[in-house]
Amino acid sequence: MLERHVTLLSGEKVLIRPLKVADAALYPDFLGDVTPEDLRLRFFAAMRTVSPELIDKLIHYDPATAMAFVAIEEQNGRLLGVVRLHNDDSGENGEFAILTRTKLKGHGLGWLMMKHMIAYAKDKGLKTVRGQVLGENTTMLQMCGELGFHSTDDPDERGVKNVELPLIEVPAEAVS
Ligand SMILES: CC(C)(COP(=O)(O)OP(=O)(O)OC[C@H]1O[C@@H](n2cnc3c(N)ncnc32)[C@H](O)[C@@H]1OP(=O)(O)O)[C@@H](O)C(=O)NCCC(=O)NCCS
Repeated sequence: MLERHVTLLSGEKVLIRPLKVADAALYPDFLGDVTPEDLRLRFFAAMRTVSPELIDKLIHYDPATAMAFVAIEEQNGRLLGVVRLHNDDSGENGEFAILTRTKLKGHGLGWLMMKHMIAYAKDKGLKTVRGQVLGENTTMLQMCGELGFHSTDDPDERGVKNVELPLIEVPAEAVS
């Protein structure tokens, strides 16, 4: 359940597995292949690069309240994408965030990583998986819709959509 071998639409074999502290060494190459525009869609702030402090925070999360999965290209060990899930204060819901290499967009990796994260959340007994997506991020909003997320306008942040997937609505076979 924690690890899964998948094949992208373009044929690359990929291992999805929990993030390890040693993966910090893979981040510079990974982030070097992510455009500032994609960083903005992920972090909701303009940035040309990700600071070492933020990378450190992303790597050293508390496993009691959060989980992160990385996608590793099996042929060469490159980091291709990361999906994270952080529990809310109740511990019943998880908030996700996802980022893939810009050049790899449309190869099916985001979809496979989202499904992996949803399967993990369902298996863990969480009630919902939630996320915030910028309104202009039509690819992500469409993908969330296809995965069964409900989308509403964020009441506090203009231009931001809240997406929510009640895990009870996700059939077990949909994430196996
Ligand atoms: C958003 C993001 C994660 C999407 O990842 P991706 O790998 O490009 O997405 P995929 O290739 O898996 O999916 C894209 C498309 O294929 C569809 N798709 C992929 N695999 C599929 C499958 N097996 N079955 C059905 N549909 C599938 C998706 O619905 C989507 O449809 P479209 O191409 O018609 O728009 C990625 O572009 C990214 O990192 N963007 C920047 C950061 C960001 O926006 N993060 C989200 C906010 S946290």
